[in-house]
Amino acid sequence: MSDLSNRDLEVLWHPCSQMRDYEQFEPVEIYKAKGSYLYTEDGSKILDAISSWWCKSLGHCHPHLQSALVEQSQKFEQVILANTTNAGVVRLCERMLNMANGHPSSTWDAQSSGLEDGHYQKVFFADGGSSAMEIAMKMAVHAQGQRGQTKRQKFMALKNGYHGETVATLAVGDCGLYGDPYRHLMFPVTMIDAIPYRSGPQDPKWMDCSAEWPAIEKQLNKEKDSLAAIVYEPILQGAGGMLVYSPDLIKRMRAWADANDVFLIADEIAAGMGRCGTMLAGHLAEVNADFSVLSKGLTSGVLPLSAVLTTNSIYECFLADYTELKAFMHSNTYTGNALAVAVANAALDVYASENIMQHVERMHPLMMKALESLVEQRNDLYNLRGIGMMAAVDIRQVSGEPYDWKFRTGYSVFQQAIKLGAWLRPLGDTMYLFPPLNVTDHELLEIIHILRKSLKVVLDRNRDTLYTD
Ligand SMILES: Cc1ncc(COP(=O)(O)O)c(C=O)c1O
Repeated sequence: MSDLSNRDLEVLWHPCSQMRDYEQFEPVEIYKAKGSYLYTEDGSKILDAISSWWCKSLGHCHPHLQSALVEQSQKFEQVILANTTNAGVVRLCERMLNMANGHPSSTWDAQSSGLEDGHYQKVFFADGGSSAMEIAMKMAVHAQGQRGQTKRQKFMALKNGYHGETVATLAVGDCGLYGDPYRHLMFPVTMIDAIPYRSGPQDPKWMDCSAEWPAIEKQLNKEKDSLAAIVYEPILQGAGGMLVYSPDLIKRMRAWADANDVFLIADEIAAGMGRCGTMLAGHLAEVNADFSVLSKGLTSGVLPLSAVLTTNSIYECFLADYTELKAFMHSNTYTGNALAVAVANAALDVYASENIMQHVERMHPLMMKALESLVEQRNDLYNLRGIGMMAAVDIRQVSGEPYDWKFRTGYSVFQQAIKLGAWLRPLGDTMYLFPPLNVTDHELLEIIHILRKSLKVVLDRNRDTLYTD
């Protein structure tokens, strides 16, 4: 154990970790990061195959983002956003709205100016994903009440969904590991079952969930008079297992919600900003939500920033004489932080100037082909799925049964992969790739090569001793 690790363990409580693990598996000391690579103090480099918890969409230390940060820091860093404005924040709202409304990149690139027509017309800023999700949930319930639908106070959400770690976002999430200890603090939320999971856009039933819809509609109908909103991660459910589902579900939920006065809250925090091959994952369904929530890739993970995009019709539910007490009084200290906003503007410059979406389109088949060949070579990888610049596969016993979760198979593969040069932190026994969107062919194939070697070391060498098939 290095001296720094010893000191670390004395003072630092790491996120999402059993700290006892660190006694055997010390924290990796990072001294630099560039592009897709993390550089460690002992001289090795590690491919960041999960974009540092899914946020480094344009890789580490992108020079254009860094200069925007330095430039803004010389003007001002953080000024109260109530009763002030500045050119950067207004420009970011216009560009994000144009992007979310599906307009071409010429309307949101570095040269663009002004707001185009479109569904999303207003932006509310926060500093992290969970806080923005709570804002959208508060706005939904509040707007329902202010438009006279006071009984609409409940949420439904998708099974295996994840929306953050605050108590309210855990309530609309379905990841027991994170939420169970606090269940008694949460309000009840019905989880919609029978999600139409698919392997990806090449799946013959990609745009068709007619088989699953009747069961889903039945669940929705049961709560149709009390629902404020349905909360979902569009197309890609991240923390719940990197699961991909048919865009047709969103289309059908939109039609059902319109017919029943229910709002849709699309959590684009992981799936948006290009991850699914379109700037918003919701674009794949060709329908809009009432609230679209962005974070992570919005600043390419340089600084925390999140945004709730919504419509004029929601906004107008809050617009009245002050004495009617209809205002949305939510306040976060760092809402619209100027440094984060400058970086987000720079990130949009790069998405457009470096043709990031075209790059993802080119890389997706390369990634899937290499993973298909890996799955063909092994008999313990199941359920390969992928969309845009994300792909996932489940490790199981040869029989198809999951390994006992207590063996922590995925965690062993992760440890092995670090030794070989890739950061592949799994979700249980699900191994997934979520690299920077501008990852190169070589880097992507190297990640898959390291995954292949790590699986071999852990599963083939240990199968006889550790596991029973
Ligand atoms: C889909 C989704 N929603 C919400 C969050 C929470 O975001 P944050 O960690 O910034 O609070 C995450 C984080 O991983 C996420 O993936």
